[in-house]
Amino acid sequence: MTEIQQTRRKKRIFSGMQPSGEAHLGNYLGALRRWVSMQDEYDCVWCIVDDHAITSGGDPVDMPSSVFDLAVSFLAVGLDPERSIIFVQSDVHEHTELAWLFNAVTPVGDLERMTQYKDKAQHFESIPAGILNYPILQAADILLYKADAVPVGEDQRQHLELTREVARKFNARYGETFPITEPLIGEDVGRILGLDGDTKMSKSLGNTVGILAEPDAVWDRVRTAVTDPQRVRREDPGRPEVCNVFSLHRFFTDENARTDIDAGCRSAELGCVDCKRILSDNIEISFAPYRERAAHYRAHPNEVGYVLDQGAERARTIASETMEEVRHKMGLQWRNALL
Ligand code: TRP
Repeated sequence: MTEIQQTRRKKRIFSGMQPSGEAHLGNYLGALRRWVSMQDEYDCVWCIVDDHAITSGGDPVDMPSSVFDLAVSFLAVGLDPERSIIFVQSDVHEHTELAWLFNAVTPVGDLERMTQYKDKAQHFESIPAGILNYPILQAADILLYKADAVPVGEDQRQHLELTREVARKFNARYGETFPITEPLIGEDVGRILGLDGDTKMSKSLGNTVGILAEPDAVWDRVRTAVTDPQRVRREDPGRPEVCNVFSLHRFFTDENARTDIDAGCRSAELGCVDCKRILSDNIEISFAPYRERAAHYRAHPNEVGYVLDQGAERARTIASETMEEVRHKMGLQWRNALL
């Protein structure tokens, strides 16, 4: 039996994350903790999308360690190579190949309508085509594995819609080939703000904290977090409902303790620094097992290499089957047709 047939009993999901080094709180809350919990129910493919990352123009020298550190984060939080395929996009050349072929069925107008494209394009005087074509590569990632569904945040809904459109167009023109992949939009953690209380958590904005950070480093970041702006002095009562630190407690602090924090904040018995200390301690406790596992993988980089090699091999098995079908349908197998 081929890998596709063996694994088709469960629904297949695919998701990708750009390699920007060690995962941070936003990656964890928005994606990773959900991915970990999906591994029994679904046949999962998790990809570190370095081919996507080149469109943002980072220094090539940093790429290998960014990929490695994200892989360590994946394994540390519990993405499990026994149950899931975990691999690096550039190790499986079929991604870029299929993306090229999808150019044939993707209207430029659809790409130009993407809000992420419009946002990113503003930062360039001369817009690289890769920024425009980014969602085609994303469609290729997903459809190469004929994924039934994709767990993503609200911010990727439009890219998923484009993926579905690419599948529909391809099927209409070349015959039924791809599923119309469903988005599995998580709870809207896109609205969890960074520690600045102002913008979405992102490493480049420096408003988050690495999930593998040492306790002192966690506290260093969390103590700078912005709280209720109207609570200026220690003795001012606070409003937990508008406080970003309070909203973060919901992921790390149990309900009873949160009830106490809520009351203490409103009565001003509990200061913001105390409240942040509790948050920081609870983050440290929650992530301690991840730090431990990460230390193991950092000390044994070959184990990470092995996992990614195995993952790429399994991914390639599926990808090459899809590509064979696609090339055939698109008339790109002249030898088979004629000789
Ligand atoms: N564009 C996604 C992001 O920035 C990353 C990504 C690439 C992805 N390929 C994907 C997500 C395929 C889901 C499925 O978050």
